[in-house]
Amino acid sequence: MAKRPASFICQICGAAYPRWQGKCDSCGAWNSIAEEQGGQSALPVAQRTERKGRIFPLEGLAGTSEDAPRTVSAIAEFDRVTGGGLVPGSVLLIGGDPGIGKSTLLIQASAALAESGHRVIYVSGEEAVAQVRLRAGRLGLAGAAVELAAETNVEDIVATLSAGRAPALVVVDSIQTMWTETAESAPGTVTQVRSSAQLLIRYAKKAGAAVILVGHVTKDGQIAGPRVVEHMVDAVLSFEGDGAHRFRILRAQKNRFGPTDEIGVFEMTGLGLREVANPSELFLANRDRSAPGTAVYAGMEGSRPVLVEIQALVVPTSLGTPRRAVVGWDPSRLSMVLAVLEARCGVKLGGHDVHLNVAGGFRISEPAADLAVAAALVSSLTGAVLPAEDVYFGELSLTGAIRPVAHTVARLKEAAKLGFQGAMVPPMLASDPLPSDNALSIRPAATLADLVAGIAARAPRRAPQAATEEG
Ligand code: TYD
Ligand code: MG
Repeated sequence: MAKRPASFICQICGAAYPRWQGKCDSCGAWNSIAEEQGGQSALPVAQRTERKGRIFPLEGLAGTSEDAPRTVSAIAEFDRVTGGGLVPGSVLLIGGDPGIGKSTLLIQASAALAESGHRVIYVSGEEAVAQVRLRAGRLGLAGAAVELAAETNVEDIVATLSAGRAPALVVVDSIQTMWTETAESAPGTVTQVRSSAQLLIRYAKKAGAAVILVGHVTKDGQIAGPRVVEHMVDAVLSFEGDGAHRFRILRAQKNRFGPTDEIGVFEMTGLGLREVANPSELFLANRDRSAPGTAVYAGMEGSRPVLVEIQALVVPTSLGTPRRAVVGWDPSRLSMVLAVLEARCGVKLGGHDVHLNVAGGFRISEPAADLAVAAALVSSLTGAVLPAEDVYFGELSLTGAIRPVAHTVARLKEAAKLGFQGAMVPPMLASDPLPSDNALSIRPAATLADLVAGIAARAPRRAPQAATEEG
């Protein structure tokens, strides 16, 4: 058979070109196009159109279908993110920075499943069997009946998997190390990753086994290789955290069998990952209650309330353009809060550097944090310490009004449970009555100006400054 012509494929988005070029027209990336051999279809063009299509029955939306059955791992934080356990025949892609703990998480999940009598196979393309064993030994899981292999050829892997009793779970660590004979390019290239994923997905559907693929991420946090793999799989999870902090967050980015806003919280310890059932306690540990510039935000992650501390530092700038540094929140949201503070409340921060940090390395994606951020900013600027037993939540509108947010009751309940006594919240909606056992003192703020006035009233008198002016 004649060798199929080479084509040039963007390693980021998978777009194909007849010749090399420096920039991908499709995704705009530079220097991402590499030469790869071979196309997609094994059949020559002439034969492709000859087969007559099979006629299949069409069905209506009404009718009964059972809920997908689930294989529960008993690691509650993991099961929560998958939507209540692994669905047989589904394929899950899990991405994360190198060293974040993906392999550790998956060997722990594998051991937990094996413990409850399921057949679990762990295929590592990155580490030798001895290394995986060593890690399992350190985690105290050496006794678990997980079957290990260090292999990278997908045909061999699928053949081995198909030979025995169908496993409940197969872990493939990582998809970038896999290669298949059907594609001629080097392992790690788009074609290889895509073809390998395709074969493993086909195996999962056929055997009814859940397959978890580990995916590397690039510097900017994307799962390396073609985005198409993300479209092919049933769920995409990311495992996040930063090296400086011990805790890790498992987040669903896409899930055909469950919600995408749930998170699982883990703590990396010397004995592997430990589940954190109450993340708020962890995020609020070591809080400095007497310093200005901190406010506790009552947030929601999926169905779970999470309280975190927001820290702001506002200092006069020595630069022409003041600095705006944000960790754990959306910088454009900060710009918006600063603009509303200036336009609607006369709080001018144009001559100040602003640093904002979400304590503990947590990342907030909800707009409901606006009110807590504004409170921390005004507190830092005025030197007024906010009451340590208060929480804040509410979304800011450009007019300066505070908008209601969802899950008011859950947020208040969590705050009360953790010993908080007050809450500054958006004006209450009729549909959102207070919890019947509410013990918090609720202070609704209709506008940002209400908040600023309240904090300014607590600010210390600037006596030393006044003295220098007189003297
Ligand atoms: P690993 O699971 O190999 O990360 P990934 O597969 O995402 O690349 O995790 C490696 C890191 O986790 C390593 O830096 C050491 C740390 N670690 C612990 O702190 N405690 C442990 O018990 C284990 C197994 C790893
Ligand atoms: Mg690993």
